[in-house]
Amino acid sequence: MQNNTILTLFIGQCLVKLPEIDSTNNYLKKLLSNTKPLAEGTVIMADHQFAGRGQQNNVWEAEKGKNLTISILLNPSFLSLNQQFYLNKAVSLGINDCLSEIIGEDCKIKWPNDIYFKDQKMGGVLIENIAQGRNIKSSIVGIGINVNQQNFGDNVARPTSLSKILHRNYDLNDLLSQLCKSIENRYLELKDNAIDCLDKDYLSKLYRLNEVNEYLIDDELYSGAIKGVTNQGLLLLQTNDELKSLDLKQVKFIFD
Ligand code: BTN
Repeated sequence: MQNNTILTLFIGQCLVKLPEIDSTNNYLKKLLSNTKPLAEGTVIMADHQFAGRGQQNNVWEAEKGKNLTISILLNPSFLSLNQQFYLNKAVSLGINDCLSEIIGEDCKIKWPNDIYFKDQKMGGVLIENIAQGRNIKSSIVGIGINVNQQNFGDNVARPTSLSKILHRNYDLNDLLSQLCKSIENRYLELKDNAIDCLDKDYLSKLYRLNEVNEYLIDDELYSGAIKGVTNQGLLLLQTNDELKSLDLKQVKFIFD
């Protein structure tokens, strides 16, 4: 553990940098169960994950030393379990705020919380919540951002990285400190119950909002337009017949 110069109130004030680990989310989860209480905002950062995890049991691959792979401990005990999507909103907006400053308005949030530049994925979020009764006790917020990686394996769909967009490398520690700040700002908004603001901003950053595109819904091809997201985090997709509320397993985005 080391002190650092991240200019935040709490996110990143305790920073653990690891050369190699299976997954920063796994490491933080073990740390939580093994030790005395951990400070909220503790960040675990790895140079390399050999078993990084993504959403829906996918693997998250990132070349050693070139990318940001972190997990942040948050304790949003003010959120009930059925409000958990608000944490996803706040975190993805925090990432989007930070990256938009660097690469501009083409940075979008692909539902539920992928980070896109134009039609390419540059980052993802895996939030694992620990419940206490009906509320969240702790959240392990795992974030992967492609930063200085140039080449990606075949099993990564439509990837890009900050360096591919900027045509130069970006300092990982600078990005970490900018990211901690912007996620903290959005998390404090959530804590202040600024729900309307988070809803409005999430919608304004939502990839393909109101555009007609093709989607596979329960393995059938549909033409439709994204209209928003329910409070529970389901995607609202208007097809010719109806407004559908869909979960992650039901819908696949089709690209040209
Ligand atoms: C996704 O898009 O599928 C989510 C990817 C999340 C990857 C990050 S990298 C740091 C943290 N540790 C993990 O094992 N996964 C998350």
